[in-house]
Amino acid sequence: MTKGWQKSDWRAKPRVQMPDYMDSAALNAVEAQLAKYPPLVFAGEARRLKKQLALASEGKAFLLQGGDCAESFAEFSADNIRDTFRVMLQMAIVLTYGAKVPVIKVGRMAGQFAKPRSAPTEMIGGVEYASYRGDIINGFEATPEARQPDPARMLQAYTQAAASLNLLRAFSTGGFADIHRVHSWTLGFAEHDKAERYRELSNRISDALDFMTAAGVNADTAHMLTTVDFYTSHEALLLEYEEALCRVDSISGQNVAGSGHMLWIGDRTRQPDGAHVEFCRGVLNPIGLKCGPTTTAEDLKVLMAKLNPQNEAGRLTLIARFGAGKVAEHLPRLVKAAREEGANVVWSCDPMHGNTIKSPSGYKTRPFNAVLSEVREFFAVHKSEGTIPGGVHFEMTGKDVTECTGGLRAVTDENLQDRYHTACDPRLNASQSLELAFLVAEELLAFREVGHRVAL
Ligand code: PEP
Ligand code: CO
Repeated sequence: MTKGWQKSDWRAKPRVQMPDYMDSAALNAVEAQLAKYPPLVFAGEARRLKKQLALASEGKAFLLQGGDCAESFAEFSADNIRDTFRVMLQMAIVLTYGAKVPVIKVGRMAGQFAKPRSAPTEMIGGVEYASYRGDIINGFEATPEARQPDPARMLQAYTQAAASLNLLRAFSTGGFADIHRVHSWTLGFAEHDKAERYRELSNRISDALDFMTAAGVNADTAHMLTTVDFYTSHEALLLEYEEALCRVDSISGQNVAGSGHMLWIGDRTRQPDGAHVEFCRGVLNPIGLKCGPTTTAEDLKVLMAKLNPQNEAGRLTLIARFGAGKVAEHLPRLVKAAREEGANVVWSCDPMHGNTIKSPSGYKTRPFNAVLSEVREFFAVHKSEGTIPGGVHFEMTGKDVTECTGGLRAVTDENLQDRYHTACDPRLNASQSLELAFLVAEELLAFREVGHRVAL
């Protein structure tokens, strides 16, 4: 893709948010080992996702990206993967109804292990420790030994990602994704006694599915109703891991990141001349770029030119994360910058990372209403700018955790301590995720009704 680019070029660039490994022999041995392992994803899959994202840039598909803030070794289980996968499918059905276009399902899964941190150290119980940077780098436990970066963790992350992806591939094709099963789960949510406003939409979805069954479209006649495309994504933060899994596609001769279908660049690592942009610009995968309050129009123009010099549709997804009440202040300048460049991009909304607060009880949380407000503001800006809201990006889990406050089955400040399991940022639980999908579907329906939607 990028002439003269080498997968190790990032090493000559300034790097931030990456660990300093003390034992370079151990690091080299791990990198050599990973370089011999099979890639987790293949170039053809990354290309197919890119084609689907190209449709999202035109309003002919909608991106649903979601999963853990940080996957962890301790929370790894088939049940957790299944539950997140299931909720994402439920959300996708609801959104498909609202958008009237296919929903592209991309998990923050099978590789989302490395975390940028706001400070290199943190105080725990009055003692200063190196910050936890995700299980692929160091341990969560508050001891100096656990917080030491250990390259061997990359091998465990690879193994966990491979096993996760294996299960996701099985779920996607082995009948688990049967649309009729997902349908009945969705109804379970809408039957909640306070769910009146969702009931009508849910009934409409149900009618549509019943009609399809009556018309003879069922699991036996329509393969597409029992299988699903499901992709993986993570922040490309730990570049030693990314480089070791980078491969040359034998068909095109292009470089492909073998660690996940889609990679994104975080808000803290998007320096145009930095290591992360350098690595991502050379691989053919779809790339996400987080855009925050400090992203200027000029930054965005430079980054678009670096990351997508051919202006290929589907290559670049701009993930806006400003915080509720701030979207109107920041998003228009970026939308205009993209328009001025004639850039083909997917606009996605991450309403999580600008809405993290410390609750009175001391937990890091996100109020459901702030998350919802940011999504609504995102739609409103696209409405007034005449551009296309192409997707959403959530931190969520299929489990009944208590990490974000609010929602229909309201999690209160006092509840946060009950099941606060995240290894990093607070996630929407299954019920909050599905509720949000209904509310986003309402936004999408309203957007289509006023005639902004290009598709159909
Ligand atoms: C994240 O997605 O977990 C993250 C750290 O986001 P951001 O880079 O937008 O802060
Ligand atoms: Co996060």
